[in-house]
Amino acid sequence: MSSDTISVSRAVNGLRGTITVPGDKSISHRVAILGALARGSMQVSNYLCSEDCLNTLRAMQQLGAAVTPTDSPQNFILMGTSMQPVAPARDIDCGNSGTGMRLMAGVLAALPFASRMYGDPSLSKRPMKRIIDPLGQMGARLTACGEKPGCAPLAIEGGKLTPIRYELPMASAQVKSAVLLAGMLTEGTTAVHQPAITRDHTERLFAHFGIPCRVSADGLDIEVDGPAVPVAKDIVVPGDISSAAFWLVAATVVPGSEVCLRHVGLNPTRDAVITVLRRMGADISLSNVQREGEPYGDITVRTAAHLRGTVVEKHEIPNLIDEIPVLAVAAAFAEGDTVIRNAAELRVKESDRIATTVGNLRSMGATVQEFEDGMVITGGAPLHGAVMDSYHDHRIAMGFLMAGLNADGETTLLNCANINTSYPGFEEHLRTLTR
Ligand code: S3P
Repeated sequence: MSSDTISVSRAVNGLRGTITVPGDKSISHRVAILGALARGSMQVSNYLCSEDCLNTLRAMQQLGAAVTPTDSPQNFILMGTSMQPVAPARDIDCGNSGTGMRLMAGVLAALPFASRMYGDPSLSKRPMKRIIDPLGQMGARLTACGEKPGCAPLAIEGGKLTPIRYELPMASAQVKSAVLLAGMLTEGTTAVHQPAITRDHTERLFAHFGIPCRVSADGLDIEVDGPAVPVAKDIVVPGDISSAAFWLVAATVVPGSEVCLRHVGLNPTRDAVITVLRRMGADISLSNVQREGEPYGDITVRTAAHLRGTVVEKHEIPNLIDEIPVLAVAAAFAEGDTVIRNAAELRVKESDRIATTVGNLRSMGATVQEFEDGMVITGGAPLHGAVMDSYHDHRIAMGFLMAGLNADGETTLLNCANINTSYPGFEEHLRTLTR
C-alpha cells in the first residue's frame, strides 16, 4: 500500500540501479476481460496487481472466471467461462478505473443479464456518455445513474446488440475498445474509425485470442466479426511504459543518473514518451527488444547532457496521454519552451491534469501558461520544493515526486495513496534508485 503523504529531496547521488516496473495496466485489464470470456484456461504472468486491475479481475470472478495463483499474486491460471458468464451477485466495484468501467460496459451491455457498476468519487465524475452513446446505438440499455449527469454508477440491462460502424468523436482507446468488445459479442461486423491512432492492445489481444479482427493499413479503421469466443492462450504482460516514464524523466534530469528498466512494453502506440524525450536530448537506449505480440525490451537511461524544449505533435498526444504530467516536469528542466496542445482529454482524467499539472509546476517555481487544451512550459530555471496536492491522482503524485528529486529543499505530495491504482511497489523502487 502506498503512503498517503510522501516527501523527497534532491537525489544528490543521482538515480542508479536496475528495476522491473510492474505489468502494463491497459494490457492487464484486457487480459482479465478476454481471458474470463475465453474457452479454456491460460497462465497469466506479470499481471498488474494494482487496485485498478484487481478490481477488474474481481469483477471477472463475479462473472464466473476462476483465478488460481501459481507462485505469486501476479502469476495465475485464469479459467474462462467459455462465453457462458453468470450474472454478478453484487454490484461491480471499479474503484478508480475509467478503463475498467468503460471496457466492462462494452461486455456487460451484450450479456443476457442485468448488472451495475460503480466507482470511487473521482470515477463518479468522469464522462460515461462517450461509451453510452455508441453502445446505445448498438441497442444497449445503459443508464448513467450518477449525481453528475452522464456519470457512474452505470445500470446495465444486458441483451442482444446489433453491429454498427462508429466514428469515434475523440481519440480514445477506451471508447474504441468498449465498442470492439461489444462487437465481439454481437452477430455481424462491428467497425470503428478513430480520428488518430490510439493504443492498440485490444486489437493485438484479439489476434492473440483468435478473434477475427481487421485493422486498416493506416491503423485508423478496425473491424471485428462476432459473435466470437476467445481461445485461452498463455500470456506474459510486459512492464508498463507509463510507470517506466517516471524513471525515464527523473534519470534524464537528475545529474549522475543511470537506470536500467527491464522488460518494459514498447508497443509503438505507447512509446512516444521515448521519442519526445529523445527529441529533447534525453540519453535513452533500448536493448533485448522483442517485437512479437506486445513488443518489449530493456531501457537504459542516463542523465541528459543538455535538455531543450520541444513541440509535442498532435498525432503524438494519444500515444503519450498518460505521460504528459511527468513530461511537463521534464520540460520544466529543459531550456526553452515545450508546447503541449490538443490535449483537452487531460481535463477528464483521474484529475483535471492540465489544471493539476500547471498548478503544481507553478508552486515549484516553474513558468507555465495554461490553455484549455494544454500548456506551454518555459523551462530551465531551478525548481524549489513545495507541499503539493496530488488530488488523489496517481500520475500527479508520482510525476511531482520526480520533480522533487531535482529541486531545492523538500517536496511533499499529499493524497498519494492512489499510486497503488497503477504502481504497487513505487516507494520501494524510489528507495532502491535513490539509495
Ligand atoms: C487507456 C486509454 C487512455 C488512457 C488510460 C488507459 C486504455 O484513456 O488515458 O489510462 O487502457 O484504453 P482514453 O481512452 O480515455 O484516452
